[in-house]
Amino acid sequence: MEKRFEEKVAFITGGASGLGEKTAKDFAGEGAKVVLYDFDGENGKRVENEIKSAGGEVMFLEGDVREIETIDSAVQKTFDTYGPIDFLIYSAGILQDGMIHKLPEERWNAVIDTHLKGFFLSMQACVKRWIDICKADKKEKIEEYPDRRIITISSQAAEGNIGQLNYSAAKSGMLGMVKTAGLELIRYNIKTHAIMPTLIETPILGELLSKQEGKWRKYYSGRIPLGIGEPKYVSKVILFLCSDDAWFMNGEIIGINGGRLDKV
Ligand SMILES: NC(=O)c1ccc[n+]([C@@H]2O[C@H](COP(=O)([O-])OP(=O)(O)OC[C@H]3O[C@@H](n4cnc5c(N)ncnc54)[C@H](O)[C@@H]3O)[C@@H](O)[C@H]2O)c1
Repeated sequence: MEKRFEEKVAFITGGASGLGEKTAKDFAGEGAKVVLYDFDGENGKRVENEIKSAGGEVMFLEGDVREIETIDSAVQKTFDTYGPIDFLIYSAGILQDGMIHKLPEERWNAVIDTHLKGFFLSMQACVKRWIDICKADKKEKIEEYPDRRIITISSQAAEGNIGQLNYSAAKSGMLGMVKTAGLELIRYNIKTHAIMPTLIETPILGELLSKQEGKWRKYYSGRIPLGIGEPKYVSKVILFLCSDDAWFMNGEIIGINGGRLDKV
């Protein structure tokens, strides 16, 4: 198997499940040292064990993306254990759907904080250390600085989805953050991207696809030309965006849409 990421360090929020889990396993399979940061201790340990059993280098750190001190100390611990992080993958996420007229404020706050505040805090914890490294060893050309990447998972729902006012606000907010980070950080050779997957079968969907005798599975299977997605379709794009092949790209927003171009 091709090993594009030997000696690289990937810090993956939400690494205990779904898209983060698959991305962590694929990175480890290609030689990266992987840190899983997640508040789900049980699954975090499970994924850590599975990666270790497959021969990968991995560390699980339990914590909440919304807590500045916890995320900051996890990033510091990663630097101390493996050296500087090369790739920040932001995959922590939740759904707390509700129609506008009934959406409780707590659901609004939980979704906005998990996706926007958490992404900000994770990005800041990495970026401030990366900039310190650049400032301590100034270079003439951008490309002489270490090559870093930030990838966040937005969603096709950023363009709007019934029952997801909070989620679509969070996911479209991420797109503005990625454009700003792309503008601000390229001077340090840090490239930032967002991906926008359509529906992918992972635990975040809960009972959605099985309830009402599979009504929603049939619905989404019909709406997405290539069918409901698998996590590998997302992890492959994330690994590409972290690879040398994507060296000349910055601030991109990439759909992973299963062929679906209309709204959700
Ligand atoms: N599955 C899909 O259809 C789909 C489509 C588009 C975008 N996304 C996005 O992809 C990302 C990953 O989703 P997934 O499908 O892998 O879901 P998932 O539920 O399988 O994984 C999400 C992980 O994030 C962790 N997490 C949630 N809140 C956290 C917090 N505050 N602190 C630390 N960890 C936290 C959870 O414990 C879980 O392990 C999410 O941002 C989601 O919105 C998913």
